[in-house]
Amino acid sequence: MKVISRRKFLGNSALAASLAPLAVGSLTSPFVRSARAAEPGPNDKVRLGLIGCGGMGQGDLECFFLNPEVDCVAVCDIDDARIAKGVEICQKKRNTKPDTVKDFRRVLDRKDVDVVLVATPDHWHALPTVLACQAGKDVYVEKPLAKTIDEGRAMVEAARRHQRVVQMGSQWRSCKHIVEVGEFIRSGKLGKVSIVRGWAYLDWLPGIGKPADGPPPPGVDYAMWLGPAPDRPFNPNRFHFNFRWFWDYAGGLMTDWGVHLINMMLMGTGPDSPKSAYSCGGKFVLDDNSETPDSQVTVYEFPNYTLIWEHKAGLNNGLYNRSWGIEWSGTEGNIILNDEGWEIRPEKKKANLDNQRKPGSPDPRPAHVRNFLDCVKSRQQPVLNVDIGHHVSTVAHLGNLSYRTGRKIVWDAANQKVVDDPQADALVGVKYRDPWKLPYAQRA
Ligand SMILES: NC(=O)c1ccc[n+]([C@@H]2O[C@H](COP(=O)([O-])OP(=O)(O)OC[C@H]3O[C@@H](n4cnc5c(N)ncnc54)[C@H](O)[C@@H]3O)[C@@H](O)[C@H]2O)c1
Repeated sequence: MKVISRRKFLGNSALAASLAPLAVGSLTSPFVRSARAAEPGPNDKVRLGLIGCGGMGQGDLECFFLNPEVDCVAVCDIDDARIAKGVEICQKKRNTKPDTVKDFRRVLDRKDVDVVLVATPDHWHALPTVLACQAGKDVYVEKPLAKTIDEGRAMVEAARRHQRVVQMGSQWRSCKHIVEVGEFIRSGKLGKVSIVRGWAYLDWLPGIGKPADGPPPPGVDYAMWLGPAPDRPFNPNRFHFNFRWFWDYAGGLMTDWGVHLINMMLMGTGPDSPKSAYSCGGKFVLDDNSETPDSQVTVYEFPNYTLIWEHKAGLNNGLYNRSWGIEWSGTEGNIILNDEGWEIRPEKKKANLDNQRKPGSPDPRPAHVRNFLDCVKSRQQPVLNVDIGHHVSTVAHLGNLSYRTGRKIVWDAANQKVVDDPQADALVGVKYRDPWKLPYAQRA
C-alpha cells in the first residue's frame, strides 16, 4: 500500500465533476436580505474576498480560479509575505491585482464582495464567518468549523438568521468514491454496522523543536494574528502552520485530520450524535514545545455503534498497512476506505456480499468549491453546510474535551452541553480576549 503524503491528502489536481447536494432545503425565503442588490445570477461573476492566505488559502484560491466566473477583488492577511502570495496567484490566473488589506473587516465592508473564503487558523474561523453572514456574504470556511463547539453554534445561528450559504472546507464530502461508500453503507448492504474506526498515522510530522520567543517577523501584524486568543509573546512555533499544535488556537490532530475522517465516517453511519466520548494519549513521540498529543485514541458511544479514532506521529504503518483510513464493520462484512479506493471484505460464513475493490477518485477540492458556487447561485444548501460542519466538528471537539480533562465526557446533544462537568463544559464555550466579541455566542 502506497503511503499518502500530506500534499496528496490535501489535494492539488483538478476534478471537473460536481455533486448534488446531500442536505436539502432552499435558502430562498421572503425574508432574505443581503447587503448586495442581489445574489449573483447563473451567468454573473462571483466576486471573492480571501481572508487568510497561507498554505490552504492559496490552494483554495487556485481551486476557486478553476471556475471562470470567479474574480478575486480583495486579499487579506496579517502578513505582507502571505498577501504577496495571494496577489501573485491572482495575477497569474486572472491577470488582475486585488486590493490588499490586513484587517478582514475591511473586506466585509465592501459591496463588491459576494463570497468570502476564510482560511485563517482555527481560532479565527468563527468571527469572520459570523460577521460575513451579517454583512450578507456567503462563506466557504476551512475546517474544523471553529475552535470551540459554541463558536460553531454561533456560526450556525448567523447563517440561519442571515440566510447565508456556508460550506465547510472538508472536501471529502464531495469525493465521488466516499459518497458511494456512504450510500452503500446507508443502504444496509453491510448489515448492522456496530464498530467504525478511523486512523491517521503520520510519519511526516516532525518535531518542531523548542525555539525561544522573539520578535514577530517584519510585515506581520501579530496582534491581529492573536485576535481573540490569549495575549502572549511571539513564538515561531505558535505561528504559521504549527499553530494547530497549540490549544489556544486549535485542537491538534484530533480536530485537524479528525474532522476530515469523522466527516467521512458519519457519511456512512448518519447524523446521530454521540452519547459520550473518552480519550487518552500523550506526547510520547515528539520532543518539542507543541502541546497537543502526538498519539491519541478516542472512543465514542453512539446510540447504535462505537466509533474509534486513532492518531499517531512518527510512523506511517497504520491499520491494514494504510497510513490513514476508515473501517466500517457490519454484520455482512467490513469496508476499508482511503483515498485510493474502497474494499469490501465479506463475512466468510455469509454469501450476501462479493469481495470487491473500487478505485479512488481524484482530488475532491475542485468539486467541493464548485458545489459551493452552485449553491451561492441556486440558494440551495451545500453538501457540507454549516449544520453538518458543526455536527462533525463537535464530535471531534468532544474527543479533546475528554483528553484535556482526563474524564469521560457525557454529551447532551439536544442542549449542546457536557453533563455534570462544569470544567469540561467551560471548554465548550467562547472565551475571547477584549475587545473581541462573538455575536450569537451562547456562553461568552
Ligand atoms: N481542507 C483541508 O484539507 C485543509 C488543509 C490544511 C489546512 N486546512 C485548514 O485551513 C486553515 C489554515 O491552515 P493553514 O495550514 O493554511 O495555516 P497557515 O498558518 O499556513 O495559514 C493561515 C493564514 O491566515 C493568516 N491569518 C491569521 N490571522 C489572520 C487574520 N486575523 N486575518 C487575516 N489573515 C489571518 C495567517 O497570517 C496565515 O497566512 C486551518 O483552519 C486548517 O485547519 C484545511
